Amino acid sequence: MSAENLVQLLYLVSTGLFIMSLKWMSDPETARKGVFSGVAAMALAVAGTLAGVITTGGTHYWWILGAFAIGAGVGYPLAQVPLTAVPQRTALSHAFGGLAAGLVGTGKFFLYYGQKNEAALSPFIVVALVAEILLGFLTFTGSILAAGKLQEVKWIPQRPVTYPMQNVSNLALFVVALGLGIALVMHPLATWAPYAFILIIILSLAFGVLLIIPIGGADMPTVISILNSYAGLSAVAMGFVLNNKLLITAGALDGSSGLILSIIMCKAMNRSFTNVLFGAFGQTPSTTASGEQKSYKADTVESVVQVMEQANLVVIVPGYGMAVAQAQHKVRELYDQLKKRGITVKFAIHPVAGRMPGHMNVLLAEAEIPYEDLVEMDEINGDMPQADVALIIGANDVVNPAARADKGSPIYGMPIINADKARTIYAIKRSKSPGFAGIDNELYFLDKTFMLFGDAKVVVGELARKLTDEGGMH
Ligand code: TAP
Repeated sequence: MSAENLVQLLYLVSTGLFIMSLKWMSDPETARKGVFSGVAAMALAVAGTLAGVITTGGTHYWWILGAFAIGAGVGYPLAQVPLTAVPQRTALSHAFGGLAAGLVGTGKFFLYYGQKNEAALSPFIVVALVAEILLGFLTFTGSILAAGKLQEVKWIPQRPVTYPMQNVSNLALFVVALGLGIALVMHPLATWAPYAFILIIILSLAFGVLLIIPIGGADMPTVISILNSYAGLSAVAMGFVLNNKLLITAGALDGSSGLILSIIMCKAMNRSFTNVLFGAFGQTPSTTASGEQKSYKADTVESVVQVMEQANLVVIVPGYGMAVAQAQHKVRELYDQLKKRGITVKFAIHPVAGRMPGHMNVLLAEAEIPYEDLVEMDEINGDMPQADVALIIGANDVVNPAARADKGSPIYGMPIINADKARTIYAIKRSKSPGFAGIDNELYFLDKTFMLFGDAKVVVGELARKLTDEGGMH
């Protein structure tokens, strides 16, 4: 087999593994296999590139090995972050991906420009180069800012930063960058071309920042997914510049999966793309307008256990608070105790509960709760009126009835879990603070709602222990 064929074979296997990786990752049962095949695909891609350099007599393979070691050295600790920090960690990966694409594009342009290589700077390649640096550098700054907002870095405002004519001025900036790009395609070897190129880089970096500042923290996971698709598209452009088919396919997979994910999230929040990108959601958090002081009814673990023991159907609604508290294993103990008593227990899974898609599924799967008891929102909502108890564990926005009824609410139209239809509602949270959207929740003031204030892990642990103790006495 010739060296070139070996490289192409490695790339082909890598492409297949990337595709299978995505397929496997879409199901919790095969997700682990999906992660490993993604890692293997990336390792093969690097091996293929290395083989290409070595077999063609290249001597710069130390650069690749060095970059591999640095990347692995940075990537390993990055992978150790808690699950709740995965969205911002993902944003950092996109930032690095965008930066890499941007730098490769810049390197290639100046290499060909220095050689006055007219053939290499064909209109097609210059279009690809401009797309690569535009998307690459805007993804870089945009993703860094998005990660900072999600990490709640002090000097980055969480709320949307808006000013008059914002969208118009952003658009104008983009049009200038695009105009410079067109000029560059027409005259890639002009004396002013390097300056135009650098100006496009500066405008792209600025555009990334300006695109993200008007977007509120609550929309960041969706924006990160959109930036994911930009990073993918930038890699596709890089694939055309380097004439590398693997980059083109891997970038296209990245770009399209990011886009699909953003669409799923937008649907789950009943928002449009333009509303997420330009809607400045979360700017004016509304609170209960009535002015009357409403009060919560708190309850005790003992009386909650008594009611749950009499129930036929208990629906548990997990949310972000369960993730923060890492309460999933205690939830499993509670589930086991209820099941032991012949009670039907279902988990109501909202598509955007928590801070990333599939957040609840991952945590509950980690606690080995059977998949068949995790029920998607649309399916469980039909059963909610039959539920004797809805136990809300650290969920807030995803059970807020304002989304159904209050036209003025920022979450109006977002599909929710109809926890308010259950006969009795218990809600576990630490305080009276609102959820991610920053708005009050009428559900907590209903006559049939009782609060169990405290950390989810502690409270659920107490519920499970009480049931275990009682179980022991029978
Ligand atoms: P949230 O509305 O954020 O509410 C979480 C609740 O958990 C808070 O009210 C908080 O109240 C409580 N909590 C926090 N730490 C806790 C702890 N240790 N123990 C007990 N409770 C705790 O969560 P949700 O209902 O899951 O909704 C998710 C939100 O994120 C939605 O607004 C959604 O649109 C947004 N979002 C999600 C995604 C994805 S993909 N998941 C994407 C974009 C946006 P206390 O502070 O009083 O404890």
